Amino acid sequence: MAKVEVDLANIPEGKNVIIKWRGKPVFIRHRTPSEIEEANSVKVESLRDPQQDADRVQKPEWLVMLGICTHLGCVPIGEAGDYGGWFCPCHGSHYDISGRIRRGPAPLNLEIPQYEITEDDKLIVG
Ligand code: FES
Repeated sequence: MAKVEVDLANIPEGKNVIIKWRGKPVFIRHRTPSEIEEANSVKVESLRDPQQDADRVQKPEWLVMLGICTHLGCVPIGEAGDYGGWFCPCHGSHYDISGRIRRGPAPLNLEIPQYEITEDDKLIVG
């Protein structure tokens, strides 16, 4: 199946970019040092879908995930919600800066697609 390549050098720190892969939105966030710290400061045991931030990223500064709410499939909004990440307006699910579900009806964290980041900072999704 088709892979999509993105040049990460074009995405400044603190910015979100949305690309399409297999007809689905993929969220890419260039996280700031304070966002990475925040993502790692969460008590994992307290989460609905317990996952360490380190298990969700290949490089801490790059968060790459499917932009599909795990409740009923709406596309969450970036830089929104009560946890500094994404907010799904359909039924009010709040995701944190690691894409983990923190409040609302969604049962699971935003899914991580298969991807790799090359040495020259190209992201290849798929
Ligand atoms: Fe996102 Fe229901 S589809 S909260």
